[in-house]
Amino acid sequence: MAILKIARLGHPILLGTAVPIADPRDPEVQRLIADMLETMHDAGGVGLAAPQVHVGLRLLVFRVPPGRVAADPEDLAMEDTALINPELELLPGDPVDGWEGCLSIPGLRARVPRAGRIRYQALDRNGEVVQRVAGGFHARVVQHEVDHLNGVLYPMRMTDFRSFGFTEELARAGVLAG
Ligand code: NI
Repeated sequence: MAILKIARLGHPILLGTAVPIADPRDPEVQRLIADMLETMHDAGGVGLAAPQVHVGLRLLVFRVPPGRVAADPEDLAMEDTALINPELELLPGDPVDGWEGCLSIPGLRARVPRAGRIRYQALDRNGEVVQRVAGGFHARVVQHEVDHLNGVLYPMRMTDFRSFGFTEELARAGVLAG
């Protein structure tokens, strides 16, 4: 396994549209998944999309640590998970604001409105179809990562730029909760 170099804000691949993966069992895809998981953990992130490691494929990895889930029964904690060619459906309901960061935009956090509930379908790392309804932090992470496959970064989803800042300053000000 290897730790991959992460593309940072300003790199054009972050604004591109990723293409579907034809064969999830391809050894190169399997190696990429393993490397992306290692890279995500090394960087202390909860999600990483292939374009962030300079690969324009519809692949993302994420995890939902048990400590991050809310009381929402659909906010399911997840071990390391890969989604290949994910399809996302936003379910009805009011948008929910929550703090986000991005490994491609290091050192910053912002409050970003997202759908509170989603349904998604994808292939897992074995090529099996998975479908889930998710809420809370789980839903937020998946929306953030699927956005990366479509060239969308979280600042493009922001509506209130007053809630945007350096993680260090926001933590000092005590505003990062929720
Ligand atoms: Ni990101």
